[in-house]
Amino acid sequence: MTPHNEAKKGDIAKRVIMPGDPKRAKFIADKFLTDVKLVNQVRGIFAYTGIYKGKKVTVMASGMGMPSMGIYATELFNVYGVETIIRVGTCGSLDKSIRVTDVLLAESAYTNSNYAYSLTGKHINTVNADKTLNKNIKNKASKLAYDLKGVRINTSDIFYTEFCDKSIAKNKCAAVEMETFCLLFLAKHFKKQAASILTVSDSLVSKERELTPKEREKSLEKAIVLALESL
Ligand code: HPA
Repeated sequence: MTPHNEAKKGDIAKRVIMPGDPKRAKFIADKFLTDVKLVNQVRGIFAYTGIYKGKKVTVMASGMGMPSMGIYATELFNVYGVETIIRVGTCGSLDKSIRVTDVLLAESAYTNSNYAYSLTGKHINTVNADKTLNKNIKNKASKLAYDLKGVRINTSDIFYTEFCDKSIAKNKCAAVEMETFCLLFLAKHFKKQAASILTVSDSLVSKERELTPKEREKSLEKAIVLALESL
């Protein structure tokens, strides 16, 4: 047990699906898992462990932003012996060809945050995704006939920004969210596996309307099924 997670060691599966929102974790557990047990409620970051097609899986929320993702992912990898985490979340498009409801796979993530520096003392701002896990996800996507776009994601520390950092365009990021860099970096750092599958919920570069929370939930289902099938 940790200050942030009351689950016992064996309560958490080796494979974890991580949405940002605790309600989404409940939705995934209710809809896709059987034999579900609620194993963490600390700070409302619900974690559910159950069975998906014969395999033990945990669904646990990450909360918003790298500081929150960093706490939970570090503890899952280091305290609970988790081997694989797949984030399922939303992002905002930074590229006109990336449309609302598209499903993206992070091939790499760029951040202007000092998360990696704070952890390691090294100025690392780009991380590549795990090639084996991503290959598996792409294979599953083609079996499911999903149009999955592999892109570079910008992971931002801030949602309401008033400044356009030119390094984001220079790094050719297709969409922005707030957790992927941290997850992929920690997985590399601790020699584990992670991936990030994202649904585009809004656009920062075209006038597409934002999804309502209900529509957001529905379009996320594609990413959830793909993550569960790939684990
Ligand atoms: N910015 C940051 N995170 C996000 C966004 C955004 O526009 N959309 C979904 N997650």
